[in-house]
Formats: sequence, C-alpha cells, structure tokens
Amino acid sequence: MKTHRVLTGITTSGTPHLGNYVGAIRPTVRASRLAEVESFYFLADYHALIKVGEPARVQRSTLEIAATWLACGLDPEKVTFYRQSDIPEIPELTWLLTCVTGKGILNRAHAYKAAVDKNNAAGEDPDAGVTAGLFMYPVLMAADILMFNAHQVPVGRDQIQHIEMARDMASSFNHLYGEHFTLPEAVTEDHVALLPGLDGRKMSKSYDNTIPLFVPREQLRKLIMGIVTDSRAPGEPKSTEGSALFQLYQAFASAEETTALARAFADGIAWGDAKQTLFERLDHEIAPLREVYNQLIQDPARIEKTLKAGADKARAIATPFTARLRAAVGLRRLDSAVSAATTKAAKSSAPSFKQYRESDGLFYFKLVDAGGQLLLQSTGFASGKEAAAAIARLQQEGSGALDGLRSQLATEADPAAVAQALAHFGLDKA
Ligand code: TRP
Repeated sequence: MKTHRVLTGITTSGTPHLGNYVGAIRPTVRASRLAEVESFYFLADYHALIKVGEPARVQRSTLEIAATWLACGLDPEKVTFYRQSDIPEIPELTWLLTCVTGKGILNRAHAYKAAVDKNNAAGEDPDAGVTAGLFMYPVLMAADILMFNAHQVPVGRDQIQHIEMARDMASSFNHLYGEHFTLPEAVTEDHVALLPGLDGRKMSKSYDNTIPLFVPREQLRKLIMGIVTDSRAPGEPKSTEGSALFQLYQAFASAEETTALARAFADGIAWGDAKQTLFERLDHEIAPLREVYNQLIQDPARIEKTLKAGADKARAIATPFTARLRAAVGLRRLDSAVSAATTKAAKSSAPSFKQYRESDGLFYFKLVDAGGQLLLQSTGFASGKEAAAAIARLQQEGSGALDGLRSQLATEADPAAVAQALAHFGLDKA
C-alpha cells in the first residue's frame, strides 16, 4: 500500500558529481525502493533556464542527469520519472500560485536576496541583472511539488526555505479556494555530512572543486590524487579531523573500513597510499554504474522514450487535477452553473477522483464521495492519458458524459449520488 508521496527534482544545469550522488541520488534511489512510498523524480529543466543561457548545455545536462538516475538504479516502472517541461500543467499551476503569493514573500527568498545584497554592496541598482525568473523561482518550485500533492520533499538544506514557501502558497490557495493541496514537508539527510570537494570546501559547482561522478577511471584517479592534504610525511601520524580525503572515504566505506583507515592515519600512512585506497573504494562502487551510464548515454532515444512514458504517468495525475483547480478558481465553461460565491468550507471533504495503476499494467480511476464511498469505478485503460481524458470529461461534462463512458465503467452507484458528486467539480449543468 502506498501511503505517502515523495517528490524531488534536480536542476539540469550541470554534470552530476560525487556530492550529488552521496547527498541526493543514492539516498533517493534507496528510498524509492520502499514499498510504502510513491516516488516522483523529475528533471527540473525549466529551472535550468534561470541560470543557464546555453541551449546545448541544458540539453546535454538533461541527458546526463537522466542517464545518471537510471544508471544509479532508479526504476521508471516503480516510480514516476519525468521531465518538468513535458508537463504543461506545471507552468499553468505556477500562474495560479503566483496569484496567491505575496510579492514580499518572494523578496525574502535567499537566492533573490543574495543577488540584491551583492548589487547593493557593489553600489549597483539593487535589481541589476536579476531576471523575473530568478525572482519567481520559488513559485515554479512550489508548482512542481503541489501538482502531485507530495508529502515529503528530500532536498539540500539550502532548499528548506523554498519548501516553506510552497507550504505558504498551498495554505493561501486552500484558504481561498478549498482544500486542494497537501502541505509538503522538507526532508533533509542530516546524517549525511556535506561532501568536501577537491579543495576541502563543500563540493559544489560554484567552487569548481567537484569530482564528476562518471569520469573515466583514469581521470577519477587523477582527480583523487589532486585532493588537498597537509604536508605530513609518510610515517607521521595524520589527523582524520577535517581531512577531505577521510570524509570522502567515509561516505562510501563501511564502518569497519572507515575504522581501518582511521587506524592507518594514526599509523602514518603516506598520503599517496591513502589516496589510492580512496580511489579503489570509490571505483569499486562506481565502476558498475559507470558501465550502465556509458551505455545509456549512447542511446538518447531510449532515454527520451523513458521520459515520455514518465510524462504520461505524471500527466495522468496533473491533467485532471489541473481541471479541478481551474474550476476551483473560476476558469470555467460559461454554460456551467455559476456556483455559490464562495467555495470555502465545502472542499475540505469534497468528492474526488483517484487514479491508479494495477498490477495488470492497466490504468484505472474511481470517484469517491465526500465520505469516501465509492461512486464510480472504471475498467482498465491502456494508458494513463486515456484514463485522465475520461476523468476530464466527467469533470467538464458531469453526468452527461456517463453514457459515452459506460463501456469503461465497472461500478456505478446511484445516479443521483454520482450526479451530485460530479456537480462538485463546479462544471456540471445540474
Ligand atoms: N531547486 C531545486 C535545487 O536546485 C531543484 C528543484 C526544482 C526541486 N523543483 C523542485 C527540488 C521541487 C525539490 C522539489 O536543488
């Protein structure tokens, strides 16, 4: 039984490095294997446009990051793995959220504030070089999360503020238009130490101190040989405290292996030997993944297909949900009944459509009423898209759509109850 939803995205602006692997990719792939979670992983390529102005780099990075996730064991059959820009409902939701977001809140976002502070310090106009894209970044990110009603969002600590903003936007929207959104929670891996880079500072693209995850073996060795150490000679005891080399080793090795290396440090292992030990340990974990990666990266068409299938799965949720949100805010057919001026209160226990996939591989939906009673249950659809289209028709046309859909319905409750529930979507003529 899937009890909660976990969602996270990676901006497609660079090449994955060891820090991404240890801090994000490895833990999320592991978590995605737990039976009780429904995971959503996506390539945040709209976000990439905020900082990258080179089309070829956005495309290459998208390919590399997709291949990395797959090579590291993400199973696209078990999770929903997609590319943000394949989901047109996301920019649509961004606008709906923009309209319930205080500008003052966005003024306080770290990334924007840092840019303004830098300009102020340089005596420039506060907004010099700041795009509206950077300013709106948190709203786009909230749309990513709220679209799928994610409960938990694994992120780096620098992203916690964005999740809090998404909660604010969800609350504002729910307050105005009824309970549509789950309030998401940030999950940070506190026990995973930040991985140091070649120079001992946090491994980060912006410090230019990264070790790319899938460089060829020889290049990996060279990079590791370049990690900063102190000047202690072979035979002199070395401190594990503050040693980038030791911390990198720890992120990959077992507890026993780590203890053994600590002992070797105390016994005065030569830095060159310690680096060789680190290299072998890293390569031991990475080599099999690298092999898969190299195969995948040579077959972009296959990755493209995987992402498109993921987008179908994602849109099976996003399309009907967006129809519901559009109705909630008043973007409605003109020939549908004008519902009461306020929709507040009613929504906390509103009827809802649930879409899911069964072990037979087919896509299903059901409609349940406010009390959770089953009203409609579909037969299997070949694709999530078809199931979503049927839901969208029911939401837009109400009971009028039932006749046309009859062959796809396995269970149908009392017509009056069904009609009443469908009317809740605000579009029924009843
Ligand atoms: N902003 C995130 C980062 O730079 C990437 C991202 C975009 C994201 N949308 C998201 C992460 C939604 C989690 C959920 O790391």
